[in-house]
Amino acid sequence: MKENVIELKNVRKEFVTTKHYPGFKGAVKGLFTKEKMRKIAVDDVSFEIKKGEIVGYIGSNGAGKSTTIKMMSGILTPTSGSCLVNGLEPYKERKKNAKNIGVVFGQRTQLWWDLPLSETYTVLKEIYEVSEQDFKERLDFFEQVLGLQEFIHNTVRTLSLGQRMRADLAAALLHNPKVLYLDEPTIGLDIVVKDKILQAIREINKKYSTTVILTTHDINDIEKLCQRIIIIDEGKKIYDDGLEHLKKDYGYNCTIYFEWKDRMEVSQECMLQNMDEKIEFIKQERGAQVHFSKKDFTIAEVIAKVMGIVEVRDVQIQETELTDIVKKIYQSGVRKGL
Ligand SMILES: Nc1ncnc2c1ncn2[C@@H]1O[C@H](COP(=O)(O)OP(=O)(O)O)[C@@H](O)[C@H]1O
Ligand SMILES: [Mg+2]
Repeated sequence: MKENVIELKNVRKEFVTTKHYPGFKGAVKGLFTKEKMRKIAVDDVSFEIKKGEIVGYIGSNGAGKSTTIKMMSGILTPTSGSCLVNGLEPYKERKKNAKNIGVVFGQRTQLWWDLPLSETYTVLKEIYEVSEQDFKERLDFFEQVLGLQEFIHNTVRTLSLGQRMRADLAAALLHNPKVLYLDEPTIGLDIVVKDKILQAIREINKKYSTTVILTTHDINDIEKLCQRIIIIDEGKKIYDDGLEHLKKDYGYNCTIYFEWKDRMEVSQECMLQNMDEKIEFIKQERGAQVHFSKKDFTIAEVIAKVMGIVEVRDVQIQETELTDIVKKIYQSGVRKGL
């Protein structure tokens, strides 16, 4: 059994803000009455993450992802509940915790705007007390997986978004943290840079057994990287399980599009008579759309059934996409694994 690197127990974060009224009258009113508003950003969230796991932390905008990351990084203190990262409470031992974690926020850089990237790394080396040998070895490795060489002597302000993200990732990893938090690291990136970053994360995880928590809107990132996902919705955890499990539980629906051979005509009645009642058959101009659940039949069985009745020119299989599955979970608010 691997050790837990992260443990959250009933973590809750409430923000209290002052209500603002519009206009001059509102401003005057605001001087005398300070009406407070409470927002529960993270609501009773518990989970454990083991060493070396790559976990996707997903949810729609405002779901509470960044707030959770900030509590695990020590930037915010939970209103209640407990959060342990490497056995430390991050917000109580920020300095010690900082040695164990690396953070990348896709929305803003952690780098010094006016310094050449190479100097930024030298400063970080001193701050985190990285030995000369480790420093060299790690930069070599980052160069391999992220390709920093072409812009390492440029100032950060001149880097493109894709270069900056690669630079940020290397900076977050220079002290070889046990845990890496990535908050929307691929936002706004083109597909080539995105893939490069995902690949680098995978290799870093493999080489150093770094535990990775990745928040993203992009389900593709998750599919490429994570075996496990946690879904958060309106501050509540609504799913925590394997990706395969998610697909299995929710991804049963399948549609196959058939195109008949030249001028074939098959009546609805004929199909219905010869097919199973669990298979839905919708006639189209030159073929048919067939819906079924993979709980009842395999794709091969359905294709064989149809081909037993009619000659087929072409088939197209459309399985439920992970995005659709996640949408369905948000909508139904299925509470799993709580
Ligand atoms: N500093 C803050 N003060 C008040 N409300 C906040 C603050 N930070 C976040 N929130 C609110 O908490 C909720 C969760 O925000 P966040 O964790 O940033 O969501 P996500 O990262 O999933 O998009 C949102 O409704 C957001 O408006
Ligand atoms: Mg966020």
